[in-house]
Amino acid sequence: MSEGSASAAPTLLIDNIGELTTNDPSLGEGIGGRLRAAAVVVEAGRIAWVGPAAAAPAADERVDAAGRAVLPGWVDSHSHLVFGGDRTAEFEARMAGEAYAAGGINVTVEATRAASETALAANLARLVSEARRGGTTVLETKTGYGLTVDDEVRAARVAGGQVDAVTFLGAHVVPAGQDPQSYLDLVTGPMLEAVAPYASAVDVFCETGAFDEAASRRVLDSARAAGLATRVHGNQLGHGPGVQLAVEHGSLSVDHLGFLNDDDIAALAGSWADGGRGTVATVLPACDLSTRMPLAPARALLDAGAVLAIASNCNPGTSYTSSMGFCVATAVLQMGLTVQEAVRAATLGGAVALGMHEDGWRDPRGAAQARVGTIAPGARADLQLLDAPSVTHLAYRPGMPLTAAVWRAGVREV
Ligand code: NIG
Repeated sequence: MSEGSASAAPTLLIDNIGELTTNDPSLGEGIGGRLRAAAVVVEAGRIAWVGPAAAAPAADERVDAAGRAVLPGWVDSHSHLVFGGDRTAEFEARMAGEAYAAGGINVTVEATRAASETALAANLARLVSEARRGGTTVLETKTGYGLTVDDEVRAARVAGGQVDAVTFLGAHVVPAGQDPQSYLDLVTGPMLEAVAPYASAVDVFCETGAFDEAASRRVLDSARAAGLATRVHGNQLGHGPGVQLAVEHGSLSVDHLGFLNDDDIAALAGSWADGGRGTVATVLPACDLSTRMPLAPARALLDAGAVLAIASNCNPGTSYTSSMGFCVATAVLQMGLTVQEAVRAATLGGAVALGMHEDGWRDPRGAAQARVGTIAPGARADLQLLDAPSVTHLAYRPGMPLTAAVWRAGVREV
């Protein structure tokens, strides 16, 4: 903490915390680095001090947590928030027995192209605000409902004004009526070139009905040549090459993972084996439920040694929720994770999937940011206070509105 200078930023003490999840095992017990009777000091948007409440320094402002739980804000590393239109009827049909197919994406593409930029930005603002109220402090979102050069650039620009990471997903589906080969040429050429200034990564939906292995490989290679990181939507609707491709390519993450064999799990775990950067296995529990697909084998992935993230996949087709609390509860109640494991995957896991677990990452406005996903000195002060004594209540009381307060970069947002 800085001392004595008249120009020092005001400090905030969050005191009397019943249970603090730091995600730093050197600060406390277990993988959550859990401390009881704790306090945190925030200064200039970062965590300045963490320790026992009894030893907390004085600060300019004090918030009494009244024995409740504090944890890092959720890091939601997979969403599709720039869209127009509505797919309620498709959801209703699915609940009546229709299968999910990637073709529904084109319904949203049509509605998104027809929407004004103001309407897209307003819808995004509504969704970001919902996410904040649920405790999310970091949001990635993808393009992918424009699928023309102009509509993809517009989506990336709109997203970059409001979220923390923008991913180019021109390779979402081949737009209705277009030749697959010429669309692939467009996505890996002029469209990538136009969107690249607004995006930090490129994603491809590697799936039957979307992009096959050869096409997906071309998308990933073009991203690498443009100097962008990559992600893959893989193994969502059936077993396919997505996971192996992502690992082989060194993608930051591969997301969905409902259909994995032992080789896929071993490849994801093995990608971290030499101590270097591997591919994060991102599971999307709300999407699995909403599409009535098998739940991704999160337990087996963790047991094998993979690095796991949990994300909302908020989008109008397969997962119309940004509730990370719901995703965490599902991961515990139905995927067999402990609460500590699920909370870590939805915070630090997401940060690793986005490359934001280390200082110096740049937001879409170009500003350098401190690391997120942990509550430790130097980290960005992204915290949530629960209306509950422990994170266990996230799964013990599923569906309850437990978010009592949210700070993002030290600023109270909820
Ligand atoms: O992640 N799988 C591809 N993309 C989205 C679905 C988008 C949609 O159906 O609109 C997903 O589930």
